[in-house]
Amino acid sequence: FTVDMDANAADKGAYPYYMLKEVDEQPAVMRRIVSEYFDQAGNPSVDEAILAEMAKADHIYIIGAGTSYHAGLVGARLLEKYAHIPTSVNISSEFAYDRPLLSQKPFFIFLSQSGETADSRQVLVDVNEHQWPSLTLTNVDKSTLSREATFTMLLYAGPEIAVASTKAYTAQIAVEAVLAKALGMYLADDQAQAFDLRAQLGAVANGMQAITDSKEDLEAIAARFLSKPRNAFYIGRGLDWTVSIEAALKLKEISYVQAEGFASGELKHGTIALIEEGTPVIGIITQDRTAGLTRSNLEETQARGANAITIVARHLAQDNDTIVIPDVDADLTPLLSVVPAQLLAYYTSLGKGLDVDKPRNLAKSVTVM
Ligand code: G6P
Repeated sequence: FTVDMDANAADKGAYPYYMLKEVDEQPAVMRRIVSEYFDQAGNPSVDEAILAEMAKADHIYIIGAGTSYHAGLVGARLLEKYAHIPTSVNISSEFAYDRPLLSQKPFFIFLSQSGETADSRQVLVDVNEHQWPSLTLTNVDKSTLSREATFTMLLYAGPEIAVASTKAYTAQIAVEAVLAKALGMYLADDQAQAFDLRAQLGAVANGMQAITDSKEDLEAIAARFLSKPRNAFYIGRGLDWTVSIEAALKLKEISYVQAEGFASGELKHGTIALIEEGTPVIGIITQDRTAGLTRSNLEETQARGANAITIVARHLAQDNDTIVIPDVDADLTPLLSVVPAQLLAYYTSLGKGLDVDKPRNLAKSVTVM
């Protein structure tokens, strides 16, 4: 059984596919999140009951599936940085049947665009049986996961129709950032206080706009490097790695290229054997500490015949880089680096004449386990 969101609720307008429309909507979604979650003074406004409950936790467990799981990997870093509460990210279908040893005072965050994913709900049922507190971040008000969790925060991304999730991913990360800043401030963390998230999300919105304005370049890169090969790799370290697995998922889902995201340092421990003449390897490079390392990992693949492509933050860019993205706060770079990857997937799928919005074998919302 699958649930399709009401397609009439969002008109495609002049767009050939919902996915492209939804990619383009991301700057507006960022601005909407700013207007929903910040007060006049620029402070985050999050229900204090949520913050009070989270502040009691000794460990935060983020639960999600697919793209939502990937958004959790970014959120965990933000929560640990600003709220200093250890946070782990878990695939819901794994957690449901193989629950790890939990801490004394767990707090659960459910990430779900639809709020209906059966694997995630299975975990929530268990969480409620134990009376552990929970928060659902969802795009759908009054969805099952929203109704059954202790608290809800909405994503305000508007209906997402394309099966491949785009604006819900970036909305989840933005709302997680709001939560991390709000909780950090509640816990009197200086860094959280100083983090001007409202201004940063504004910069992110502008940066997204600049990327979506350069669609023709991305279409040409997709045609040149991704239209023929059967395999492709995204690589990166840290936050760039978390985006690499989301980027690879986009490419797999809609263009049927067998794509994998790898921690770039791990490539040499096995996967590099798969590199052959013309294999596209896309390096995501946005973090000062690891930029040089990822570049040298990319060169190792080039020496074995790979076509190296880079998605690089402007301040780290070099002459031969392929895609240069605007600079934003280092922790928020996934909000920008994912956008070219979404568009590369889109144009690869489009170039192959596939149904971008409805890839084979996939459903928007999976309500079976
Ligand atoms: C399905 C969709 C994915 C989505 C996942 C989780 O597999 O095809 O795009 O990421 O479900 O969905 P959720 O609604 O819980 O975020």
